[in-house]
Amino acid sequence: MLLGAAAGSASAQGDVRRGEYLAKAAGCVGCHTEENKDAVPYSGGRPLKTPFGTFYGPNITPHVETGIGFWKEEDFVRAMRHGERPDGANYFPAFPYPSFTKISDADLRDLWAYLRTLQRSSKESRQHELRFPFGWRFLVTFWKWFFFTPGPFANIPGLTDTANRGAYLVQALGHCSECHTPRNFLGGPKSSRFLAGGKGPEDKDTPNLTPTGLKKLSDRDVENFLVTGVTPDGDVPAEAMAEVIRNTTSQLTPQDLNALIAYLRALPKLAHAPFQSSDLRLSRRML
Ligand code: HEC
Ligand code: HEC
Repeated sequence: MLLGAAAGSASAQGDVRRGEYLAKAAGCVGCHTEENKDAVPYSGGRPLKTPFGTFYGPNITPHVETGIGFWKEEDFVRAMRHGERPDGANYFPAFPYPSFTKISDADLRDLWAYLRTLQRSSKESRQHELRFPFGWRFLVTFWKWFFFTPGPFANIPGLTDTANRGAYLVQALGHCSECHTPRNFLGGPKSSRFLAGGKGPEDKDTPNLTPTGLKKLSDRDVENFLVTGVTPDGDVPAEAMAEVIRNTTSQLTPQDLNALIAYLRALPKLAHAPFQSSDLRLSRRML
């Protein structure tokens, strides 16, 4: 019904079908849906454990009381691009807007058009349970000073068009770095270690995705892993990555998957360095 309405009204409105694909490429459903068969997609309640406490993905269906039914497109763009609520307060970066800020204007419009077509759910969003003092939204302002640069993705000079498409998929939509780039104790990504693996959220070690880390795997192996979740040794991945495969990488078109891999192969080679206590001292000094 709504789908028809959006498709019928020309280009000022986003494209619902493209938006649906982009939502898959960004794995939106995972964090915004409880892991239970009867859960309405995007109705919220999914716990996300972090060293700062447990966040709950909110209801983002178009329900006017419990979801984001009375948001305007500008509210959505502001949330994704700037990490700000309609009332101006900060979102916590457990919502990966540090990556989503890189999504293009056209793609944001399509995502928004898609979100408007979701089944409404009257489920109340759940309060986050955060350790003191991490529950204070204004502290995120300081975090943003250090770790947040708003603005859409710009092509990386020196990369092919294919690899740049891959870079967009990895950096903006896929938010792969949220887990594959190590973090300091403030939860800020260490940009010099981009995608080199280390402690991700939930304090678990993630593998190095730069060519050093993936050198034993052929393009076919990586592709196979990102579609089926099986490695050449027959291992199956930890749940965090299994979910990314289920919701995101297995849903990509073959061209996009190919682009994503081309980008990983073009990354600067970095060795995998485990978390060190000096990292902690360094980040304290930054305060
Ligand atoms: C890694 C988990 C995660 C992913 C992936 C994710 N979100 Fe969220 N999102 C959150 C969390 C947590 C919040 C709440 C943040 C807060 O309260 O400060 C949130 C908040 C939001 C909000 C604000 C809701 C409100 O009521 O204020 C919107 C809109 C939203 N997300 C849309 C999206 C879209 C669209 C995608 C995919 C492009 C997406 N999210 C992917 C975790 C996620
Ligand atoms: C929620 C955290 C998370 C996100 C987001 C995430 N990953 Fe992973 N990834 C992991 C973990 C944890 C593993 C290790 C799985 C295992 O070995 O059990 C992994 C493993 C992998 C591997 C296998 C590497 C190897 O050497 O075997 C590849 C390739 C990979 N991820 C690519 C990606 C890409 C591409 C994205 C973005 C689309 C992504 N990951 C997003 C957590 C994540």
